[in-house]
Amino acid sequence: MKQAEEESGPPAGNATAAGWRCCVCGFVFHGDKPPKGCPVCHSPSHEFIRDGPRVPLVYYGEPFDVLLINGSTHRAGNTGYMAGLAEEVLREQGIPYRRFNLSEHHIDYCWCCYSVRAESCTFPCRNTKDDMPAFHRMLAASKAVIIVSPINWNSMSARLKVFLDRTTCLNNLYHLQKPGHTMGKVAGILVCGHEDGAIKTAMDIWLNFQQMGYILAPFGIGFRTHGSEFNSSSDRAFFQNDEFIVRQARGVASNVITLMQEGLEERLKDRLVPVTE
Ligand SMILES: Cc1cc2nc3c(=O)[nH]c(=O)nc-3n(C[C@H](O)[C@H](O)[C@H](O)COP(=O)(O)O)c2cc1C
Repeated sequence: MKQAEEESGPPAGNATAAGWRCCVCGFVFHGDKPPKGCPVCHSPSHEFIRDGPRVPLVYYGEPFDVLLINGSTHRAGNTGYMAGLAEEVLREQGIPYRRFNLSEHHIDYCWCCYSVRAESCTFPCRNTKDDMPAFHRMLAASKAVIIVSPINWNSMSARLKVFLDRTTCLNNLYHLQKPGHTMGKVAGILVCGHEDGAIKTAMDIWLNFQQMGYILAPFGIGFRTHGSEFNSSSDRAFFQNDEFIVRQARGVASNVITLMQEGLEERLKDRLVPVTE
C-alpha cells in the first residue's frame, strides 16, 4: 500500500478542509492522516482526499495539449496506475497536459434533452451546476485526449459512461449543422481489466469520440488484463511488475503525441464532412 501511495502522489483536495473523504463511497474520516483503509468500502488509503465544501471545477482557458482522463471508480487503482504510465510519457516529452481522475469530480447524469427535442441538446450544456461544463471546455481547448478505463461487465466504467453521455452536447452540434469544437482532434484509449472484454470496452469508448470527429491515433488502443484464474487482489502487484502494460500505455501515449504534432486539426479545418447518427 505504501508503494501505491507514493506512486499516486499525495492525496489531492482542499487543504483548508477538516477530514478525509473516500472518493469511492463518500465515507468521511476525521484525523490528521487518511485511515489505513476505508471501513465502509475497503478501498485503500490513497482513495481518500481532503474533505471540504464542493468547489466546482473551473477552466480559465489556459492552453494545454492533452486531456488525460482516468475513468475509474478508483483514483489510484489499476486504471490509475495505467494512466500514470501514459502520464510519464507526456511529462518526459514536455507536453502540456491535464490529468483528471473522474472519481474526484461531480458529474451529473445526462439530462437527455436530446431525447425530448434534438435542438435542445446543444453547447454549452444546459446543466451548468456540476464539473462537466469545465470538462466540455477542456475537450474543446485540448488537441488530444487519452481515455483510460477499467472493464466493468465488458464495457467502460459507469463513471466514464456518464462522462461520455454528457459529451452529447458537443457531439450533437454536428447533427444540428452548427460549427463543432472537436473535429480533427486525436484520441488514444487504454483499458485495464481482470480477464476479458478489453477490445469491446475500447470500441464502446471509441464510438463516442469518432462521432465527435476525433481521429484514433495509429496503434491508439492499448489494454492489459491479468487472468480469471487469479484473485483480483493480486492484479495490482502483477501490473506493477509487468512490462507489457508499460509498453501498451507508453506506446499509445507516444502515438497520440506523434499524430497530434502533425497538426491535422488545423489542416483538416472546414474540409471534413460530419457524418453523424
Ligand atoms: C462491476 C465490475 C465488473 C467487472 N467486469 C469485468 C469484466 O467484464 N472484465 C474484466 O476483465 N474485468 C472486470 N472487472 C475487473 C476490473 O476491470 C479490474 O479489477 C480493474 O483492474 C479495476 O480497475 P481499478 O483498480 O481502476 O478499479 C470488473 C470489476 C467490477 C467492479
